Amino acid sequence: MILSRDQQLRRKAYEEIELNKDIVEQDPYRLKYHLMPPVGLLNDPNGFIQWDGNYHLFYQWMPFKTGHGAKFWGHYVSKDLVTWKHEEIALTPSEWFEKNGCYSGSAIGHNDELHLFYTGNVKDKEGNRETYQCLAVSGDGVNFDKKGPVIELPVGYTSHFRDPKVWEQDGRYFMVVGAQTSDLKGAVALFASEDLIDWEHLGMLAGGGKPPLNDFGYMFECPDLFSLDETDVLVFSPQGLKPEGMEYQNVYQSGYVIGTFEPVSGVFMHGEFEELDRGFDFYAPQTTEDEQGRRILFAWMSVPDQNEQDHPTIGHKWLHNMTIPRELRLTGGKVVQLPVQELESLRLGEAIEHKVVLNYENVKLKEVSGKAVELLLDNIQVSEGWFSITIGGAARIVYSKKQNLFSLERKSYVDGTVEKRQCYLDDLNSLRIFIDTSSIEVFINNGEETFTARFYPVPDDESIQFESLRNTSFNIKKWNLGNII
Ligand code: FRU
Repeated sequence: MILSRDQQLRRKAYEEIELNKDIVEQDPYRLKYHLMPPVGLLNDPNGFIQWDGNYHLFYQWMPFKTGHGAKFWGHYVSKDLVTWKHEEIALTPSEWFEKNGCYSGSAIGHNDELHLFYTGNVKDKEGNRETYQCLAVSGDGVNFDKKGPVIELPVGYTSHFRDPKVWEQDGRYFMVVGAQTSDLKGAVALFASEDLIDWEHLGMLAGGGKPPLNDFGYMFECPDLFSLDETDVLVFSPQGLKPEGMEYQNVYQSGYVIGTFEPVSGVFMHGEFEELDRGFDFYAPQTTEDEQGRRILFAWMSVPDQNEQDHPTIGHKWLHNMTIPRELRLTGGKVVQLPVQELESLRLGEAIEHKVVLNYENVKLKEVSGKAVELLLDNIQVSEGWFSITIGGAARIVYSKKQNLFSLERKSYVDGTVEKRQCYLDDLNSLRIFIDTSSIEVFINNGEETFTARFYPVPDDESIQFESLRNTSFNIKKWNLGNII
């Protein structure tokens, strides 16, 4: 029997999973409650949607190596955002219009069918790129029928034009696409459609050298425009920003601007860019509104070109993972992020609780240790010195009362030196910390700031140590967390 290109690619990918299953599962750095690839490399969250009762999270996937290349769309499904099932492969790069990758995109329900919009990436031998915004449709949410390109590259942009995000508003469909203008500035392009098939280019929504995003990098990836509490938020991942003080410390950034989108004219007036996360590893976030009206975000817990090949998990044939799902809210003109409430059901048993007073001390608290744990510290009072938490000897949180400065330090997986990311706080009241084997997500003051990172403790080191210079007091609860698959 002659297999189609799509069937061949699927078969090869499933063989790759089978072949490497044991080595992947034996990795001490494999995570317990974060979504990861079954083998190979995972990057952006794609097509995130609650549709027909299920949450669908697709992802950029390279099954054949722990590097980038002709991406597939892998697929996870969940009823509750907690327990996930790995579904059939959604898209393989089998056709001429996507032969170098089914790149990132989004999902929307329409006429009882799930519609995926994604970028068909095509490169010739010289590395010249073509880009097509493509459509694939499914009645069952598992098997997709490719309809091919629906948008070709409009004039005014280079072929770095990708990552369509689609939504419905006032009876019309809109799409934002990450772009680079012909004069090499990062931008977001806007399209509209009546039927999801014919798309009209309405112009540039943001960037392209227009204030306040003038001189703001050479490419915007993964745009996402949505309303939160009657304000419009544009999330995107700009490339080409230079570090400024504590900001823009990673190779590429992810953040948002807040403003007002006028759907009739397609005009978006907005303010300055704010980073979404202060840690080392956070990129290409994508959101969806679920049936409860919550705006939920997943992000890729890495950054492109940021020492990707130095992660020790490569020896176990896999690379990268998603963040935990986070609910977004707008507080005081700022987007805050909270772990979705459902994650409380990952807690195993009762909390370990302590009321802690530290005075020039370095302590371990009874039963506060572990590989997959949640810590909740509240009523934190730090006198004029500092307070720190060291996790597995390889990551450290430090809050300096004197400077009102919060830091996440980690032992670099590249050369073992200590590196840090920081931000100023008005005060430190509460910390919610999710530790999962080789990842940490810190939610400060109910999500006012977040720090997300991978880190690599010596595998058996499950220690958590608290240290203070002068007086620090807090209440702490600790839970062990279960698995999601
Ligand atoms: C962001 C990104 C997207 C692209 C995808 C390819 O990480 O570069 O712009 O669609 O990854 O995997």
